[in-house]
Amino acid sequence: MTEWSGKHAVAVAHPNIALAKYWGKLAQGTNLPAVPSLSLTLAGMSTRTEVRLDDALEGDRLTLDGHAVEGRPLARVSQLLDLVWAGAGTQSGRRPPAMVVSTNDFPTAGGLASSASAFAALAVAADGALGTEHSVNELSSLARAVSASAGRSLFGGFVELPAGVAGEVRLSARALAPADHWPLRLLVAVTAEGPKAVGSTEGMIHTVATSPYFDAWVAWAPQAFERIRQAVLARDLDALGPAVEQSALAMHATAMASDPGLLYWNGATLDVIHAIRRLQGRGLAAYFTIDAGPHVKVITMADQVDVITAALTRVPGVRRVIATRPGGPARLVTDGLMPDGLMPDGLTPAGERG
Ligand code: PMV
Repeated sequence: MTEWSGKHAVAVAHPNIALAKYWGKLAQGTNLPAVPSLSLTLAGMSTRTEVRLDDALEGDRLTLDGHAVEGRPLARVSQLLDLVWAGAGTQSGRRPPAMVVSTNDFPTAGGLASSASAFAALAVAADGALGTEHSVNELSSLARAVSASAGRSLFGGFVELPAGVAGEVRLSARALAPADHWPLRLLVAVTAEGPKAVGSTEGMIHTVATSPYFDAWVAWAPQAFERIRQAVLARDLDALGPAVEQSALAMHATAMASDPGLLYWNGATLDVIHAIRRLQGRGLAAYFTIDAGPHVKVITMADQVDVITAALTRVPGVRRVIATRPGGPARLVTDGLMPDGLMPDGLTPAGERG
């Protein structure tokens, strides 16, 4: 056994759902968002990732939900491992190869923000295994360079990610308010299984290149972000809900106007939107948002969860409803504490460095 073999760390991270959407990257720089975004980190869904260093490996290996994965997902994992290694500045020599084992307790790559929790958990586990001791802001910036939304999942609760400035290298998300700031509930109406047809990176590149609405989206998004930010700080759901819906619809309108148009929705997506509008007509506080996939996420309060879940379940095409609430930050865990991605939120982070 050589120097690195056997060193390992396990981390858990939650996905986040953008209340103010990010869509589109700057032409220059490493994965810098063209617009500011604001998200809620979600307890109730999680990614658990182990990084185990092994000098005997010829290259990095990735197992995702029990299956060996190569190609682009593995390349992105290697990219983040390299960034964590190089970003410390104190490391010399070749980075040791790593075995990365990751499991999600929710559908992967289907518009449920699995890349956010995946790369947030990987950043923390890689930092633990490699002993690089990055700050949370540094890890957020490194994860953001691979998946911008992942930079937000380093933090719990309500999180903001500013728009990038051309040429900037470091850009990290920051905590706006902790998970207990506002006990919102977020219900995920799952309307399809399996990965989406066009990933968010490809979708954004296509939108920037071909949508006649992209410049208008970039000009408008900062004021929508600010409205959403103020509504979160004021815990004002009547102000937040319509602004969140408009941010999602404006993002999708921009993507739909691409050539050829990008359509992430299926029939059930639209049926759920109409069901939510009917609930609003009955005076219920329920608001929708949609990411780059067909699922609909519904923001509401705890006392309305049962009635809204029942209404969503009745929509044909809704396969199941996942109940989530504001969750904590990405953190190291002691292996064994979380057998199935189920760990009580708020548990004291316990590092494991082999
Ligand atoms: O950073 P990515 O590639 O996961 O893109 C995220 C894009 C959206 O989920 C649609 C919006 C967002 O801000 O999370």
